[in-house]
Amino acid sequence: MKKVFIETYGCQMNVYDTDIVKSVLLKNGYQLAENEGEADVVLLNTCSVRDNANRKVYNRIHNIKHRKNGEPVHIGILGCMATNFRKQLLENPKLPIDFIAGPDSYKRLPQLLEALNGSAKRSDNFDVTLSEFETYSDVYPTQTGGVNAWIAVMRGCDNFCTFCVVPYTRGRERSREPVNIVDEARRLASEGYRQITLLGQNVNSYVYEGTRFAELLEQVGEVDGIERIRFTSPHPKDFPRPLLKVIAENPKICKQIHLPLQAGSTRVLDMMNRTYSRREYEDLVLEIREVYPEMVLTTDIIVGFPTESDAEFQETLEVMETVQYDSAFIFKYSERPQTVAQRKFPDDVPEAIKTERIVRLNEVQKEHSLMRNRAHIGQIHEVLIEAEETKKSSEEIQGRNDGNKIVILPAGDYGTGNFVRAEITAATTNVLKGRVLSVLDK
Ligand code: 5AD
Ligand code: SF4
Repeated sequence: MKKVFIETYGCQMNVYDTDIVKSVLLKNGYQLAENEGEADVVLLNTCSVRDNANRKVYNRIHNIKHRKNGEPVHIGILGCMATNFRKQLLENPKLPIDFIAGPDSYKRLPQLLEALNGSAKRSDNFDVTLSEFETYSDVYPTQTGGVNAWIAVMRGCDNFCTFCVVPYTRGRERSREPVNIVDEARRLASEGYRQITLLGQNVNSYVYEGTRFAELLEQVGEVDGIERIRFTSPHPKDFPRPLLKVIAENPKICKQIHLPLQAGSTRVLDMMNRTYSRREYEDLVLEIREVYPEMVLTTDIIVGFPTESDAEFQETLEVMETVQYDSAFIFKYSERPQTVAQRKFPDDVPEAIKTERIVRLNEVQKEHSLMRNRAHIGQIHEVLIEAEETKKSSEEIQGRNDGNKIVILPAGDYGTGNFVRAEITAATTNVLKGRVLSVLDK
């Protein structure tokens, strides 16, 4: 029997896929290793959204192959780099990889692992075919416990933002059948999970035979035991009013939206093929705040997209000032193979300028996060207890409020998975602190 260790890079979808892979392997008689040292096979579930993620994986491959205990080990590459690796492996037969499986090929893993013992040619061990249909609806992922679980509701992306490699690595959009998603939510509830995050590269494009994302949210909301529902990530180009209404009115749906801006200048947004203008984005934010003023908003921003001028960068800052995000992930543009941007637009913003811009935006975001967090002081929040101690102290416990902000509370016998009402008494850029007023019965 082979022992397999899996290491995951990148987004939440990859974390979810790792749980799918674990489930497939366990069902087929494989064991999961606790660490790399005791594994016969190491799987790297990779990300290729930015170049630094790529480089990390190359380093890891060499580390693993030359591991300290000197025992032989097989290495398999999963995830978004799999497609790129195919080419590189064919060009560089010395790269110590035994097999690769793309995001739609995980059900074939037992066969690929089996083939390691045989005399098959290495190129037989590549499966990076992308499917138009695979949604893994028949695989119940082995989630790692705790109170939060994830469900992939759609896979792939058809948007082709010009900077993004996802449409090439994960293929076309496809949605999972609602009954199947609701069944998974019920099963998770019966195992004690309290919060579910619905995942998709582009969740609000979800559609299955007439069921749209807003209806899906409501259906999941009917599952007893699941008290909080989140979703990530929507695309600002299609955020229909009915969806906003459901979020605002359904008490189980968290009042938090991750709304990737990417850039503040309409010219840059056009070059990115984001299909909305600065004005349209800002109008959407106004509409959201009109319907639900307290909505927590977070975002993704790219600095230094090809040809982005200083004035255009200033526009990104202006949008940040207008919106005042609760938090933001800010990235330097990283040229990705195959993308339209790579083929058409030279990566012409110097590295030093990208660095200046990212530093500036991170400073501004810190101020905004602190301000938005401080505004909660004195408020009363419902907190879902996630951990009975924090990394820093056993005298404190940790939970999250509806807006997905971490709340630190003095230790008490509340139990993970339970809800308390807490008064917020202090705030930093990253966390809220509070005191428990009462335990909630839900
Ligand atoms: N360069 C930099 N950031 C990127 N992202 C996606 N592709 C790139 C790229 N080529 C960022 C986007 C996206 C987030 C998941 O990663 O901001 O929303
Ligand atoms: Fe990439 Fe754009 Fe699709 Fe998001 S919406 S996965 S950024 S192509």
